[in-house]
Amino acid sequence: MKGVEYEYKGLTEPALKNINFSVNAGEFISIIGSNGSGKSTLAKLLNVLLLPARGEILVNGLSTSNEENRSKIRQNVGMVFQNPDNQLVATMVEDDVAFGPENLGIPGPEIRARVDNALKMVDMDGFQRYSPHKLSGGQKQRVAIAGIIAMEPSCVVLDEPTAMLDPRGRKEVMDTISYLNREKKITIIYITHFMEEASLADKIFVMHRGQIINTGTPEQIFKDIRSLKEVNLDVPLVVELAESLRKEGFSVPGVMSIDGLVNYICS
Ligand SMILES: Nc1ncnc2c1ncn2[C@@H]1O[C@H](COP(=O)(O)OP(=O)(O)O)[C@@H](O)[C@H]1O
Ligand SMILES: [Mg+2]
Repeated sequence: MKGVEYEYKGLTEPALKNINFSVNAGEFISIIGSNGSGKSTLAKLLNVLLLPARGEILVNGLSTSNEENRSKIRQNVGMVFQNPDNQLVATMVEDDVAFGPENLGIPGPEIRARVDNALKMVDMDGFQRYSPHKLSGGQKQRVAIAGIIAMEPSCVVLDEPTAMLDPRGRKEVMDTISYLNREKKITIIYITHFMEEASLADKIFVMHRGQIINTGTPEQIFKDIRSLKEVNLDVPLVVELAESLRKEGFSVPGVMSIDGLVNYICS
């Protein structure tokens, strides 16, 4: 994005102001920011659900403002939203996953292969003939992700996909996303309220009032607890605990993972 701005009618302040960033193929980016900071608006601009008022958005070199590019961009940038129930439309899992590729005009035998492959990738093989409403939240969200993967996008944008899930469902979805990024080299843009989830990314963007106010590795971003609290964000529990121990005089190294801190304490 270059100099991107977006305004909703009736709002006094733009939802996005002068947004500039680039994401490399294969990267895993997390976006954090309090409610109303512009995260969902940014996500919708990436696959042309919205168009920028000013500035330019290039996806694989194609501008979203050029109408000829739109279907190609939408196929390339898959979107996953918060509520899995709103994303599943069919009465059988395999029909749901087939929906996207069917709309792309993919021939029948290839759709079969893509559906089975996508369900394997989200660890839902064998559920082809299940009814989506009988699945757990985490399973539903993984089926929704399979429906996106079946369109073979190079990038997937997820807007708080774990917000409605229990801890187990959240872990299932996070494991799936990490797998798609690490093993399948799919670029991930992951919006979340959960700092533990954000810390799995290569890089974090911090949003506040329509701007990206900070970018860095999870270690860099979570080091500055005070700045995050100023914009109503927290740090992962493990970071907070390590900081409390430092205040008590323990020389805790910069640990990010729970295992890292457990190892330190136990030694
Ligand atoms: N459809 C809409 N119409 C008017 N204002 C909107 C709409 N969607 C979002 N907004 C406003 O735009 C700003 C950014 O919202 P959003 O991108 O949804 O933020 P976030 O996803 O970080 O919570 C907020 O002030 C929000 O109230
Ligand atoms: Mg949002």
